[in-house]
Amino acid sequence: MRIAIIGSGYVGLVSGACFADFGHVVTCVDKAEHKIAALLAGRMPIYEPGLADLVERNVEAGRLSFTTDLAGPVSEADVVFIAVGTPSRRGDGHADLSHVYAVAREIASHVQGFTVVATKSTVPVGTGDEVEYIIRSQNPAADVAVVSNPEFLREGAAIEDFKRPDRIVVGLSDPRARDVMTGIYRPLYLNEAPLLFTTRRTSELIKYAANAFLALKITFINEVADLCENVGANVQEVARGIGLDKRIGAKFLNAGPGYGGSCFPKDTLALVKTAQDSNAPLRLIETTVAVNDQRKRAMARKVIAACGGRVRSKMIAVLGLTFKPNTDDMREAPSISIVQGLIDAGAHVTAYDPQGMEQARQLLDPAVRYAADPYECVEGAQAVVIVTEWDQFRALDIDRLARIMSGDVLVDLRNIYRADEIEQRGLRYTNLGDGSMPVPHGLPVAAE
Ligand code: UGA
Repeated sequence: MRIAIIGSGYVGLVSGACFADFGHVVTCVDKAEHKIAALLAGRMPIYEPGLADLVERNVEAGRLSFTTDLAGPVSEADVVFIAVGTPSRRGDGHADLSHVYAVAREIASHVQGFTVVATKSTVPVGTGDEVEYIIRSQNPAADVAVVSNPEFLREGAAIEDFKRPDRIVVGLSDPRARDVMTGIYRPLYLNEAPLLFTTRRTSELIKYAANAFLALKITFINEVADLCENVGANVQEVARGIGLDKRIGAKFLNAGPGYGGSCFPKDTLALVKTAQDSNAPLRLIETTVAVNDQRKRAMARKVIAACGGRVRSKMIAVLGLTFKPNTDDMREAPSISIVQGLIDAGAHVTAYDPQGMEQARQLLDPAVRYAADPYECVEGAQAVVIVTEWDQFRALDIDRLARIMSGDVLVDLRNIYRADEIEQRGLRYTNLGDGSMPVPHGLPVAAE
């Protein structure tokens, strides 16, 4: 089949490369000339493990190409995917659909023959109706079926998620579109990935409900972690104890400094707005958003408490800046609030991240110093804070760390170490949700 993907950002590029790898003929289109020029030269605009190889292989095989010109690929396509960004609209948190609607207007006059227009961008319920209205009013002769086909790709594991999905969701009403979408996903369907056909509106809501539920699950365990600290329990064991119940499930129960990234913060906010406007407020998600926002800043206070209540003029080393490992993405990363909170309290911050430092320089306070590796970062530091669980921080040489630091505080906001292994080496260890550890600086301990 022939596929045109409009928008060669994260979702468009990964989806395009994977569809090409299935044997389809794919053209990825983007307005940004520098992005297309880079892709044509074999350079990836984002960091995603395995993507560069996948793109190279499929370009060489003649199945994947890149262009800034939408007309040709759209006129030849069996399916046109809309995969442009839907950022939070400034001021009100609603999803900004201007790019989606602009693409609908542009493709309207170029579609030829029966064409499926599939929205992969995360869009609020009802957007498909508007896309269909735009295309039909611009080109009444167009033979199109507008479908919803949300993505469930995690950054850093996107290729794996695309090729081995838990499910594929497609919202449509036209039986011809059902045949086309079944054909597009046939290789996955043969691998027994459930292909769930539903209505367009239901499909649009499934995407938001999935992200909101995951954000809620993370926020739940984060609050349980705080409770564990105050009542002498251990959050990792609580997570294991509840996660073994198949109705709850073990995944997404890792306590951390709060969720970030380009999806959960924006999508939870957009869903809250949709629900309020639809007179069915989702109070659980409203609370999730508020709790998560406060948590990021609270993590700075946790570090300050671990340092004895004061960090003025102290040097703090921050390991990991991206919102999670295996990405260079800094959007809504907890590190932004944590670093700012430390600087506001008078600390000098040195940071290291394997991929995120270029983006971090544009977002973090200019006072932050950047190191070339983890050990350079911690040299002379009074305290070290692990904010993102990159693999290379999981096996740090703790003896070396203890030698080159000037202080002895290690704050692990991802629970990747055990207290005993750190303390044996002479460092004082603070993590999340371990109430068996000494409570810092006189916080009240609940009665036994
Ligand atoms: C998320 C969803 O997982 C994808 O299914 C979805 O397709 C994507 O959003 C999207 O809408 O495009 P992503 O934002 O890449 O993917 O990242 P996640 O792996 O879900 O992590 C999100 C945040 O939650 C990170 O900050 C991570 O550190 C945090 N997290 C995750 C935790 O704090 N604890 C956990 O147990 C899991």
